[in-house]
Amino acid sequence: MSSKLAPRGVRPWWRDAVTYQIYIRSFADSNGDGIGDVEGIRSKLGYLQKLGVDAIWITPWYPSPQNDHGYDVSDYMNIEPDYGTLQDAERLIREAHDHGIKVIIDIVPNHTSDQHAWFQAALKAKPGSPERNRYIFRDGKGSNGDLPPNNWQAVFGGPAWHRVTEPDGTLGQWYLHLFAVEQPDLNWENPEVVEHFDAVLKFWLDRGVDGFRIDVAHGMFKEKGLPDIRQSKLSKLLGKSNFTRMLSPEHKPFWDQEGVHEIYRRWRKILDSYEGDRMAVAEAWVSPTSRIARYVRADELQNSFNFEMLTTLWKPEEIRKKINNSISALAEVGAPTSWVFNNHDVVRSVDRLDLGLTNHGDTTRSRQGDPSKLNIARGTLRARSATLMALALPGGTYLYQGEELTLPEVRDIPENRLTDPRWKMSGYKDRGRDGCRVPIPWKTSPNGAFGFSAKDSLTPEEAWLPASAWWGSYSAESQEHDPNSTLNTYRRALAVRKNELGLGDGDMNWINTRKDVVAFSRPGNFSCYINFGADFELPKDCEVLVASGPLKDHILPTDTAVWVRSN
Ligand code: NOJ
Repeated sequence: MSSKLAPRGVRPWWRDAVTYQIYIRSFADSNGDGIGDVEGIRSKLGYLQKLGVDAIWITPWYPSPQNDHGYDVSDYMNIEPDYGTLQDAERLIREAHDHGIKVIIDIVPNHTSDQHAWFQAALKAKPGSPERNRYIFRDGKGSNGDLPPNNWQAVFGGPAWHRVTEPDGTLGQWYLHLFAVEQPDLNWENPEVVEHFDAVLKFWLDRGVDGFRIDVAHGMFKEKGLPDIRQSKLSKLLGKSNFTRMLSPEHKPFWDQEGVHEIYRRWRKILDSYEGDRMAVAEAWVSPTSRIARYVRADELQNSFNFEMLTTLWKPEEIRKKINNSISALAEVGAPTSWVFNNHDVVRSVDRLDLGLTNHGDTTRSRQGDPSKLNIARGTLRARSATLMALALPGGTYLYQGEELTLPEVRDIPENRLTDPRWKMSGYKDRGRDGCRVPIPWKTSPNGAFGFSAKDSLTPEEAWLPASAWWGSYSAESQEHDPNSTLNTYRRALAVRKNELGLGDGDMNWINTRKDVVAFSRPGNFSCYINFGADFELPKDCEVLVASGPLKDHILPTDTAVWVRSN
């Protein structure tokens, strides 16, 4: 398959960057309060440089009541005090650049926090006022207006509308929140909202950020008149959780509306008015995959997450199909594909690929699988192979913190410590996403400290989300000294990718081989083989560059991936 792309050196960095996602709250705590922070990130720049990533993406770092851990922003032009100051952020951006690392920050334009000054003003103002018009307020249905304005459901569970008490104490209008109650949706038909976000982008671009990750990039505009989801569509999904329903391919009057594209054309002009290939990447859960191409047309965004691999089973035919779909979806617009096996919203790939989970499900069990069936060793082999495969494919790759340590999902967080709004909003049926957000184990220590915090005595239980006491052997420190650890394997892979092969953009061709072996070649006599079946003998004349697990001579065992160069 070919992607018609400019030669390396000429093309912008984001076409084939390896970007490391930092979930700031759980990455590194510099001041001993059990919460990750900006200085914590700065203290790990050396680690990230040694790992060999091109960029970091930092999840929302703005002031926020943390109802959805920063995805509920109360001020877009400042830093959450728990995470540091604006000066800390400016210094981090500068020093990241000194380490050769670009900085992408999260921007959350679909909704604000209910504590944002705009929303507080809207609550105090009258129906029909300019303050309310920044959000989506409507009268309720029924004789007393006590029924929600339409049948939309919130992604995290329950109705997508919340009724407010008016300043005079009477029950009043309803406002839309596609996510948590504390995340009111903004009205993007209002020019004031549009102009505010222009200013937010410029504020951060002026401070040197290289790009933005756009949260819910497919959701900002709603269908005119806010029509009901048609009953026939809804009934098909009855009995499924809101999360499954909202992400299902059925037409939704709030996702993927035409209006978003006008905004992205506007943002592209802003990005292009700055030097240095500034970019934006869309988080757009749209379906079918071909719809993604519309977000990355030449005058819109540069990149969009390709979520195909978050729902894949570990099956060769499915993997091949998803790779083909992903590449061909974007070929028409010439945009690069990106590969994502992990992020802060999904069960970690070690568990997913072993248990055959697709991230859909209504309960903890259906989404996270049966832990008694989990074979961590096999899941680890698969997760490593998956990442090596992603890094060998054309385009860019997003790695999620802890992926380089092959951390598994944490399933033993006590219920009274769960923080994801999904837990409560699902009626306590789905424990939510906390299990992939547990603080990073940097060190191994006999007293149970885990090096997440600069305060050595901080125990795993004292972190904002309890870390796992059994994680010692996964720590970055213990993996540092094992040449075959995941950490050292990925370091080698990233170095080979960058320095020797220049992988990333460019053509790929399938290699015709055994059905249960996925194999493809890339420029520079380079090939990648991933074995899903019995032992496989690699071609005699090739040199092994990196392998995800031990090889026996030229034999590739099951669940193992290898990068080779033919001589
Ligand atoms: C997508 C983010 O990745 C997720 O963590 C968040 O809860 C929702 N958007 C709502 O902002």
